[in-house]
Amino acid sequence: MDFEIEARGLVKRFRGAMALDGVDIAVASGEICGVLGADGAGKTTLLRCIAGLYRPDAGAVRPGRAGRDRVGFSPQGFHMYEDLTVAENVQFFGSVYGLDRATLQQRADELLEFAGLSQFRSRLAGQLSGGMQQKLTLACSVLHRPPILLLDEPTTGVDPLSRREFWQLIEALRADGSTILMASAYFDEVERCEKVVFLHEGRVLAAGTVDDLAPAGASLEAAFRERMALASSGTPNGDLG
Ligand SMILES: Nc1ncnc2c1ncn2[C@@H]1O[C@H](COP(=O)(O)OP(=O)(O)OP(=O)(O)O)[C@@H](O)[C@H]1O
Ligand SMILES: [Mg+2]
Repeated sequence: MDFEIEARGLVKRFRGAMALDGVDIAVASGEICGVLGADGAGKTTLLRCIAGLYRPDAGAVRPGRAGRDRVGFSPQGFHMYEDLTVAENVQFFGSVYGLDRATLQQRADELLEFAGLSQFRSRLAGQLSGGMQQKLTLACSVLHRPPILLLDEPTTGVDPLSRREFWQLIEALRADGSTILMASAYFDEVERCEKVVFLHEGRVLAAGTVDDLAPAGASLEAAFRERMALASSGTPNGDLG
């Protein structure tokens, strides 16, 4: 298998309710893949299965539990300690990853510089702007230099300028060889990804490059809405009549 991230026939149920219903995805090394889906489509469940945080009910997933230390996971929402400073949060997460003191210090300096947070290191995390909070979350999720990065809606609610800055960080991590899977609520963001997955009610409606999914200059949003409408009307995938 050449894929860094892979799911085959992935099924996850919660008390009988189907959150993922036979999901297949494959992301090659160094690629960035965007997952688009409405609220409740199963994006977070998919990322958590891949990160090894949920045990699938059926199917196979990589890296999963066995490869957890190869994954950096940036959860949906803000999960830093708001009453700790930026630097203290980085210290805390670095110690969770088991980094020794010297490595952690070096990595913390590097990443705060990388994320443009050096001058805010003494600020309480709860007093950062939304965009800065997301950058801090990203920095903390890559402290241990994971080759695989799972990002759950990292820019939701962040203003457009900060989103652009955040994407510069993503591009830098990609240039460094990271394989990235990102759930996103923004079509313009997902259009930057090499591969796109449309997720709907726990199933993959379509997957491919932006050109595959929205050919001849059609917008990705229009393509997504069309697929959603077809799925809701019960017409088989891809059968456009
Ligand atoms: N821990 C849980 N217990 C019970 N049901 C859950 C749990 N987690 C998710 N679900 C259900 O599984 C389905 C998929 O949820 P999930 O959070 O993966 O969707 P999502 O695409 O991430 O949505 P959002 O855009 O709102 O973050 C939903 O119907 C949700 O209610
Ligand atoms: Mg979610």
